Amino acid sequence: MRLVLLGAPGSGKGTQAARLKDHLQVPHVSTGDLLRAEVAAGSKLGLAAKEVMARGELVSDEILLGMLEDRFSRPDTRGGFILDGYPRNLAQAAALDALLSRIGQPMDYAVQLEVPTSLLVERIAGRAKAEGRADDNPESVRKRLEVYDNQTAPVVEFYRQHGQLTVVDGVGGLDEVFNRIIEAIAPTADVG
Ligand code: AP5
Repeated sequence: MRLVLLGAPGSGKGTQAARLKDHLQVPHVSTGDLLRAEVAAGSKLGLAAKEVMARGELVSDEILLGMLEDRFSRPDTRGGFILDGYPRNLAQAAALDALLSRIGQPMDYAVQLEVPTSLLVERIAGRAKAEGRADDNPESVRKRLEVYDNQTAPVVEFYRQHGQLTVVDGVGGLDEVFNRIIEAIAPTADVG
């Protein structure tokens, strides 16, 4: 199963990806987590990404594609993956499509988690208190939501046009949302 989770910041992509990973037995590839690991390690890439992420803007397409190519070259993704955080603009969507065709691993599903903005802001504020993520302050959250509307929302249309999109209501308890995703991908959920 090759699945990409789409949705605004705070829509539950990371939360549901962690559950889907266990259920589908495929790795969770999160570009946000990969970038945060680079920042924590103090690598050259991490140093380049740190301030951009803290401002809530997008790190360069070139850095992201290199990171993703590297991740998909690892053998654990050969049986499938759950991708979260990429693509975030139409150029990334086209680059991902080309990369996946090149490695013979076309996407099965793009799952869009729909959550109203007021709830996104509430959830991120809750995480800010609990975890203190550098980009969970009100100013960066505003910027992340703006970037999502302007650059990432068109990616949803990209997957709709490719016949891969399924929209899931992301409001409700963790199990409720998880079950909706499983139902939406049920026809091929047992494919490794
Ligand atoms: P990234 O880490 O991808 O952050 P994001 O998209 O802003 O997403 P979040 O982690 O905020 O939200 P989520 O949808 O995963 O929700 P979560 O499950 O955590 O990216 C961070 C930055 O990295 C970007 O801003 C950019 O700078 C850079 N970057 C990453 N990818 C890039 C790319 N491709 N190109 C360029 N730059 C890139 O849930 C949020 C909270 O809500 C949690 O506390 C959770 O417990 C709670 N919650 C979740 N579901 C529920 C529920 N059903 N009910 C109640 N609470 C819930």
